[in-house]
Amino acid sequence: MQLTANIQNYHFDHILLNAAGVMCQTTTELDTVLASDYTGAVVTKSATPALRAGNPEPRYYEIPNHLGTINSMGLPNAGFDYYMSYVSEKQTTKPIFFSVAGLSKQDNLDMLHQLQDSKFNGLVELNLSCPNVPGKPQTAYDFETTEQILSEVFTFFTKPLGVKLPPYFDIAHFDMIANILNKFPLAFVNTINSIGNGLVIDEDTDTVVIKPKSGFGGVGGPLVKATALANVRALRQRLNSSIKIIGTGGVTTGRDVYEHILCGADLVEVGSQLAIEGIGVFERLEKELADILTEKGYTILDDARGQLKTIS
Ligand code: SIN
Repeated sequence: MQLTANIQNYHFDHILLNAAGVMCQTTTELDTVLASDYTGAVVTKSATPALRAGNPEPRYYEIPNHLGTINSMGLPNAGFDYYMSYVSEKQTTKPIFFSVAGLSKQDNLDMLHQLQDSKFNGLVELNLSCPNVPGKPQTAYDFETTEQILSEVFTFFTKPLGVKLPPYFDIAHFDMIANILNKFPLAFVNTINSIGNGLVIDEDTDTVVIKPKSGFGGVGGPLVKATALANVRALRQRLNSSIKIIGTGGVTTGRDVYEHILCGADLVEVGSQLAIEGIGVFERLEKELADILTEKGYTILDDARGQLKTIS
């Protein structure tokens, strides 16, 4: 079974990787993802220019009955230079995604300038969708600002760049964001980040389950799968074919990976389930996916990509 993908001239021997935020904050965690025989790449924790401790704890919670997770991590990360030195020194045959999430436009421009001027030869993800920094709205919900940032970025940035998007919930918004993204030579979009600002309540104590933002946080896992699939599908239908899609959200089984592929995903990221299950999740998901493809008569994943059927 051929389970591979390409983004521009980057080849991925496997289609699964971590979602930024999970198992990617330290060099040890990044090495763990790279060392798996079942990952095609690794993505770093979204970096800010300087180290950030993130929000106060508790800031991550697994919702009972396998419904998913809620978090308000607040971009804890070791700082841009830490990840730059990791990617500069790392010898690996797998592509690396360097994710950045500045707290301002200038932060993002500064980090992208440094990446442009560096020897880094992987892919760069501009995270415009973190819902967890108090007082900072998710940039990609502001269409005008998103277009302005990308316009400035592409005056100097020539390396492969993608954007990490929040979920959209309206057909008009799918149209609007796709119209903007299609104006730029993006290598990929990553959809979706967590569904921002959900609220989970502990049944025993009637208390919110995470401390930051009075309990509001990004929801991930099975609860968000339908929204993730809709965003992958809607963007695949609207974006230029040169813009590849990384599907993220709600992946706990091989069937979920397969559904992301049916909707048009090229690569698939695993967030909540990686946090819950650990590195072994990639082997299980790839085997489950391969079994489904074999059962359906596919020998090459490409043949299934985008093959979602509708009811006529
Ligand atoms: C966080 O660190 O709060 C999560 C990052 C993100 O959602 O982009």
